[in-house]
Amino acid sequence: MNDRHYALKRDAEDPLQSFRNAFYHNPNEIYLDGNSLGKLPLRAQEKVGEALTEEWGKTLIGSWNAHWLDRPKRIASKYARLLHLNSEEIILGESTSVRLYQVIHALLHCDQFPKHLGTDSLQFPSDLYILEGIAKNESLEVSILSYSQETHAEVELLKKTIQDKPGIYCLSLVSYKSGYRYPLKKLNQWASKHNSIIVWDFSHAVGAISIDCKATETLVAVGCTYKYMNGGPGSPAFLYVNKKLISSLSNPIKGWFGHRFPFSFSSQFDPSQSIERFGSGTPSILSLTAVEAGVDLVLEAGILSIEQKSKAQSDYFISLIETELLPLGFSIETPTHPQERGSHVSISHKAAWHICLALQDEKVQGVKIIPDFRPSHFIRFGITPLYTRYVDLWDTVQKLIFIVTSNTFKNYSDQQPIVP
Ligand SMILES: Cc1ncc(COP(=O)(O)O)c(C=O)c1O
Repeated sequence: MNDRHYALKRDAEDPLQSFRNAFYHNPNEIYLDGNSLGKLPLRAQEKVGEALTEEWGKTLIGSWNAHWLDRPKRIASKYARLLHLNSEEIILGESTSVRLYQVIHALLHCDQFPKHLGTDSLQFPSDLYILEGIAKNESLEVSILSYSQETHAEVELLKKTIQDKPGIYCLSLVSYKSGYRYPLKKLNQWASKHNSIIVWDFSHAVGAISIDCKATETLVAVGCTYKYMNGGPGSPAFLYVNKKLISSLSNPIKGWFGHRFPFSFSSQFDPSQSIERFGSGTPSILSLTAVEAGVDLVLEAGILSIEQKSKAQSDYFISLIETELLPLGFSIETPTHPQERGSHVSISHKAAWHICLALQDEKVQGVKIIPDFRPSHFIRFGITPLYTRYVDLWDTVQKLIFIVTSNTFKNYSDQQPIVP
């Protein structure tokens, strides 16, 4: 296991290896940041090109009837297949932050749950801002459960908090910093037993692990499509609401695309009876076109095969880190048990930022390696089974060893760009 040949052999045996050819790659570059922005599917390039030239360029307004009105629903139904939902329960569009705002606001006003908002300290900052913003407007407070560390939830403490303060909770299925995965079904059942609901943020989980919303009794979820789903920068997010809740929820951003008959141009708002009531403005057709190419690839590969490969590659990477990098001052911040993690592996080091810069410098060992950095000292490596190779993980560990043992990281400045 401890040589490059072994990694190459694993790649040669990989049943998903051909999917790598479906993406655009730069030479001499190892991309391990698919947990932030997935790679460009070549099919997206082709389909967006076609949408620009044929649909927008030639057919213009006629494309609404010919192509565009159906597109959001068709893509939503593909996400429904992936997440084990009915197509009537999921809508694509807007950003994750806006979707979260809409659904949390709607849940607060549906009178089915106590008017209390809760979360914990592992959440992505935008989610916290959304919750706090709503709470302020409604003269409420958000309780944010803090743990003694920032790598995993203390589940018993979280359960006790839900029991003591029932209400509307928001949690990310896979935590953005450490890759920790919450026990989805267990927490949903606990919440429902205690008169509460959890709104899940699937951003770091969708396309990386299999999620069965029905089997896990998940009622509401949001998530982005630009990470493991390879939908493109700022691609539309999704919102899932279980059908038993849809009719009791009112979208706070009422726009014509949430109307029962948007093209009746009525001056009275009459909400759609389906999930479409969470529509607001005109769907972003070009972005949705790219999203379709991404979800098609995940469905073709099969999420169970993707998850299986993610587990195998993460196990391999973690074992290399344990043997090669722990003695060099690195720590592993991701849970080592596969059921407790998503598909990124986070490590930490006191010189994490400088090490990230050296990794990205092609002059060092002739290869540019792109992970990402999360303050104050985390380096995240996203494993995207559709295009990550075992040999990429081997080469990354070898470069990390070199950077630290040769003190190369000391040559880099403290200055950070806007997107670290
Ligand atoms: C877990 C999580 N939630 C929410 C967001 C914000 O998503 P958006 O920019 O689509 O609002 C991100 C962005 O990376 C994220 O990682």
